[in-house]
Amino acid sequence: MNWVYIEDISNFKDQEVEIRGWVYNKRSSGKIRFLLVRDGTGILQGTIFSPKKDSPLFKQFDDLTQESSIIIRGRVREEKRAPGGHEINIEEINIVQIAQEYPITPKEHGIPFLMEHRHLWLRSQKQHAVLQIRTELVKAIRNFFDGRGFRLMDTPILTPSACEGTTTLFETKYFDQKAYLSQSGQLYNEATIGAFGKVYCFGPTFRAEKSKTRKHLIEFWMVEPEVAFATLDDTIELGEDLIIYIIERILEKNKNELKILERDTKLLERIKKPFPRITYDEAQKKLKEKGSKMEWGDDFGSPEETLMSNIYDIPVCVTHFPAKIKAFYMQPDSKRPDLVLGVDVLASEGYGELIGGGQRIHDLDLLEKKIKEHNLPRKAYEWYLDLRKYGSVPHSGFGLGIERTLSWICKIKHIRETIPFPRLLYRIYP
Ligand code: 4AD
Ligand code: MG
Repeated sequence: MNWVYIEDISNFKDQEVEIRGWVYNKRSSGKIRFLLVRDGTGILQGTIFSPKKDSPLFKQFDDLTQESSIIIRGRVREEKRAPGGHEINIEEINIVQIAQEYPITPKEHGIPFLMEHRHLWLRSQKQHAVLQIRTELVKAIRNFFDGRGFRLMDTPILTPSACEGTTTLFETKYFDQKAYLSQSGQLYNEATIGAFGKVYCFGPTFRAEKSKTRKHLIEFWMVEPEVAFATLDDTIELGEDLIIYIIERILEKNKNELKILERDTKLLERIKKPFPRITYDEAQKKLKEKGSKMEWGDDFGSPEETLMSNIYDIPVCVTHFPAKIKAFYMQPDSKRPDLVLGVDVLASEGYGELIGGGQRIHDLDLLEKKIKEHNLPRKAYEWYLDLRKYGSVPHSGFGLGIERTLSWICKIKHIRETIPFPRLLYRIYP
């Protein structure tokens, strides 16, 4: 028998096939029984006809509960009215397991309940759609960088030092030493560019952030390109191109999922290059006019990010931040040394920061000074300083948060739904 996946069903018109999946729903209508089966790639309607009420197939049908696992066999028919345009005439049901009473029903459940059942909630149509788009997003990102000749470098997760400031470090034991979970692969990629020119890493990153907002995860995924000889402008352009590529791919490949999520795709379709650019100075003034209490020198808080990204209808690039609110490695502006050549790309529709990046310090003396100013233990950064001794070049890069980007593209209210098993301030189960 021909085991096929529902997404491929249109290739099997009028053929006998086998579908392996779970009961999504069922209903009866006179002498017909309808069984909705999902197999992870789609949902297919199965029909059972029988002139007699006591047919064994009907009996099996009656026993099936929501989420029972089954293997069904039958002939595929074109059926315009069925979801997906095809149906299967069920001739045989092989019950793998009758599911116990399923906790997630079509009625409304509260978020705490759903989070507690995340392992099952994933099967729901909306959650499925978001994560389906996530796999396409990851594929698009890899294609983008691979297509431009970037080399994939896997950077370590267990590290001896901080990248993004010591307040959000996750500490762990490394035998007799201390280690930290990686906040970013950037510092390592500043080394790999010396060997490969242009690189990217793509992996999980960790922030012991005490923020309980709809934008923060404790464990999140980030893609980080780094390019030798590239300037701030070069890295902004790379970021724009990446975002546009991602949007185009998802609009093309995930029409169905975006429909399930009721996403207004027109707002995504109008995103074109170049994105508006604004300096921190200008942004701070604009925010004040809009009623924010943010003073010059303050970092953007979550409300300011939302305010900013509501001003524009496409993503906006904020540049030239005060040095004191940014990481130690950022290259100062030659004309205004109190500013750094950093960029944050803020999403439209209030979704906040998608990208953080900029140009890195390439001068040995300056970097030594910054490490001291930030009270970082020099010994742990000796290798990083080496990079400024042996053929140092200006270089730039950025990090794009996968879950932030996915929240925005799907227009999901809370970031917790954009990763299969979110790690949140008060949640590590399941
Ligand atoms: O701005 P961040 O902290 O930048 C860096 O880590 C740089 N080292 C990246 C680089 O230049 N290679 O983080 C980059 C992006 C943010 O713009 C945001 O999209 C995401 O990572 N991000 C988070 N996403 C979810 N939860 C959190 N707690 C996040 N913190 C940052
Ligand atoms: Mg940032």
